[in-house]
Amino acid sequence: MSSAVTKRKPKAKAAARPKAKPKAAPGAKRTAKSQLYAELVTQLRSLLKDEYDFIANAANFSALLYHALPDVNWAGFYFLHDQQLVLGPFQGKPACVRIPVGKGVCGVAAAQCETIIVPNVHEFPGHIACDPTSNSEIVVPMFDGERLLGVLDLDSPSLGRFDDQDAEGLNELVTILTAHEEGLDD
Ligand code: SME
Repeated sequence: MSSAVTKRKPKAKAAARPKAKPKAAPGAKRTAKSQLYAELVTQLRSLLKDEYDFIANAANFSALLYHALPDVNWAGFYFLHDQQLVLGPFQGKPACVRIPVGKGVCGVAAAQCETIIVPNVHEFPGHIACDPTSNSEIVVPMFDGERLLGVLDLDSPSLGRFDDQDAEGLNELVTILTAHEEGLDD
């Protein structure tokens, strides 16, 4: 009896599967962001300590945000002068100097005295493009009591970069800056 010998094809090597990215636990992103803002509160307080020059403090404020927040290409202030927002301390590319209240994202935030989050600036009617690489934006108004002082503006090259946590964190930081100016944090 002859035994049939079947030649087995060598098994094809299993193709190496691309390693799946470890998924962040639900809520981890939220927690990381709130931790980042908590750290920024501490850092801001230490930058402001014993210094009451508003321009100097606003300049350090914008540098702090620009370097600490990921994915941001512009961070700075516009101050209200005679119904116009005038460029203040900032980090990023040179920007338009004057924005009438009611125009652009900054002007609308100033007119409405409300934080505005724009996930896609190209869809915002009247958006003023200072840096063509910006795709999303958040603008936070700042007050001395009831009086509007100006706005804080942040841009990002990513679509949908800013959310309600950024709005909350940035509002807290701006309030610390203005309260310090008024000596309300002593
Ligand atoms: N995009 C703003 C103008 C200011 S820059 O972004 C620095 C706006 O539409 O008001």
